[in-house]
Amino acid sequence: MLSDIHSVQVELGDRSYPIYIGSGLLSRGDIYREHIPANQVLVVTNDMVAPLYLDQVLKALAKFRHASVILPDGEQNKTLGVWNLIFDTLMKERFNRQCTILALGGGVVGDMAGFAAACYQRGVNFVQAPTTLLSQVDSSVGGKTGVNHPAGKNMIGAFYQPRCVIIDIQSLDTLEDRQYSAGLAEIIKYGLINDGEFFCWLEGNMERLLDRDREALVYAIDRSCRDKASVVALDETEQGKRALLNLGHTFGHAIETGMGYGEWLHGEAVAAGICMAGELSRRLGWLGEAEQKRIIALIQRACLPTTPPRQMRRTDFLSLMGIDKKVQNGRIRLVLMRSLGDAVVTDDFDPQALNSMLDGYGRAL
Ligand code: GLY
Repeated sequence: MLSDIHSVQVELGDRSYPIYIGSGLLSRGDIYREHIPANQVLVVTNDMVAPLYLDQVLKALAKFRHASVILPDGEQNKTLGVWNLIFDTLMKERFNRQCTILALGGGVVGDMAGFAAACYQRGVNFVQAPTTLLSQVDSSVGGKTGVNHPAGKNMIGAFYQPRCVIIDIQSLDTLEDRQYSAGLAEIIKYGLINDGEFFCWLEGNMERLLDRDREALVYAIDRSCRDKASVVALDETEQGKRALLNLGHTFGHAIETGMGYGEWLHGEAVAAGICMAGELSRRLGWLGEAEQKRIIALIQRACLPTTPPRQMRRTDFLSLMGIDKKVQNGRIRLVLMRSLGDAVVTDDFDPQALNSMLDGYGRAL
């Protein structure tokens, strides 16, 4: 069953699950029937995605008793208050512990729905159906769920794995260009962490990806999911190696929080953050000038920012980075690069180099 669909497996023992990748998958009732064990399903989506895909999904869920909750779109709505709307619906529908929560949307919907699944009656079944490129290659895979606090991004949450991830690449047809580029930032990230060959492939195929060429897209999504699944399989709850997946995120989360959630898209902030990590790595002598230029060039070609917002100063960054989840014993730990495709998590760098990068990088441009 389902053997006609291309899939990648996330290996987590008895909580292993498949990531299905293909066209038209949101309408495939057989996927839902395979991974939804009991009769009740709550679809959590947002007001941008609902008009496009909710009917199609509900039709494919016809066999189940289903309900839906439509949240307001946007990172600024990833709050405890909005999250509570999910529980209001679950309670109103009198859904029980055997129910399934299905996330239909981008990273915000997936994170909030997953966190609700982790908490409702101490844990119910969860399925991810990501509809943005960023959520397809990153946030829907690996079980990170949660909401933001006004003072810090993703500060409240849980690790909670889905039963499966359904990536319907047709949903990218309606994705606006800015959101699409934001997803490319996370794809580039995988090339830089531990897959230099993929980084070279991206250099050779960025135009195809920008044209949304199906074959290139499936390849890039598949490879990103494989890269991520292999890291998550080794370190599900980020005790070590998984922190590598946060390349660009310490600077990026500071940008998102500092600018006000929703002002910069997550992928845009990560793109600038990757360039900042590259610049610090260069200043430390770990990365060559030519390598940093290649990172910046690829990120530029993906129509993404390469420098931080001008109004954010060093003190803003240091204050926001001080509450990053990777901080240990009061020391900021960063993901830096020793070469393209070789990232490390470290607090072993000269703080002065960080300060001068924050003061200088992107300021004179
Ligand atoms: N997005 C980083 C992670 O899932 O660990």
